[in-house]
Amino acid sequence: MTTPHRKKGRFVSAAAAPQAEHERMVLPQPIANFGSDGVAEPEAPMLKHMLDTGAVFMMGQNPALPVMPDKPKLLDFFHYRFNDIAFRHLLQSAKTALDSGQSETVVIACLLHDISNGALIRTDHGYWGAQMIAPYVSEEVAWAVQYHQALRYFADESAGFKYPDAYNKFFGADYQPPEYIRKAHDEARNHRWYMTSRLITIYDIYAFQDDWDVDPEMFTDIIGRHFKEPAEGLGFDNSPVAHMWRTMIWPNNFL
Ligand SMILES: [Fe+2]
Ligand SMILES: [Fe+2]
Repeated sequence: MTTPHRKKGRFVSAAAAPQAEHERMVLPQPIANFGSDGVAEPEAPMLKHMLDTGAVFMMGQNPALPVMPDKPKLLDFFHYRFNDIAFRHLLQSAKTALDSGQSETVVIACLLHDISNGALIRTDHGYWGAQMIAPYVSEEVAWAVQYHQALRYFADESAGFKYPDAYNKFFGADYQPPEYIRKAHDEARNHRWYMTSRLITIYDIYAFQDDWDVDPEMFTDIIGRHFKEPAEGLGFDNSPVAHMWRTMIWPNNFL
């Protein structure tokens, strides 16, 4: 596997992190504990450990993560927060769309389509992703990101999309998507932006390769034209979704 084009990032030592005089505990997000067989709820034993030892719950910079710039931009989240799979997948997807001569609208939609799985949440990722980017992109791009989640489950031979083989492996060959996904597909099918969302699904399927690394900086100009970076930085612009970006900056905050 080749090394992705990630910036190394700056780390702070444990001694320089906030709460340095304490043992700092990371409580997993509640949603991550639901339904996991045999995993006891961690909160009660951690609270006991806090009372017994004076350990505290982490707030602020985790020394295990690169420090984000004070005014983070979109690509900072690619470099310093997204996991390797999402980092590669989004870049490969956007590059494939670009090389196929697609519009910049489609390229930016591909670049952003799985942004939620990269560092925030997987469940209903199209909806979360669309919401995260909505204040910064055109309505069409956010719409396409939202609906790609549903369109992935439905073939459209005329557009060149068949049901992904990967989904038979992920979910089993007999998996049927729920009603709200079926409805979203039906709605999208007749929408004027259908093809923007459909093209995300088309460039999606080529894009899980370990040996192909795309430099995110190549998208700087397209991002500049299609993603309105807030002057205060993502997470600090007081937009309705700023908290989602802050959650990625400080993902371990207890509250
Ligand atoms: Fe997706
Ligand atoms: Fe994807």
